[in-house]
Amino acid sequence: MTAQSGLQTISPTRREALKWLLTFSIITTATGVVAPILAYLIPSSKKSDIYGGPISVGKVEDFPLGTGKVVSVNDKPVIVVNTKVGGIKVFSAVCTHLGCIVTWNQAKNVIHSPCHDGLFNPVTGNVVAGPPPRPLPLYELAVKDGQVYIGKPLGKIYGT
Ligand code: FES
Repeated sequence: MTAQSGLQTISPTRREALKWLLTFSIITTATGVVAPILAYLIPSSKKSDIYGGPISVGKVEDFPLGTGKVVSVNDKPVIVVNTKVGGIKVFSAVCTHLGCIVTWNQAKNVIHSPCHDGLFNPVTGNVVAGPPPRPLPLYELAVKDGQVYIGKPLGKIYGT
């Protein structure tokens, strides 16, 4: 081996390969940095509609007059109530106080949060008693062909 062998110049093919590798590294690094920033700045339109459109919560006869029932929709609890005054309504079943799941209180005809005795009006969702600071959010509702469908929540759901 000669003294010059350590000073060998890089062949054009090898130089091209290194340029290509460097360009590839810059592009992948830039993509890895820019893509999350763009995803944050440009939110997906699906994020605003967590239920992805109208979803059936059951048949009308599943919700007899004077009752309330908690139903899970895409792992989100909602309470479907049917009152003489308000008819069928669907509210978020997540209490606006600290997020407990509400139930139906048949004796009092109210929506009840068992954690701290919060009570909600089953027609309006307004707070009747207890510590909840806001009403239960109502959902868009449609009844079609005997099925009860819900759309988007019309208010902020606790924890979202
Ligand atoms: S969580 Fe519902 S009253 Fe406290």
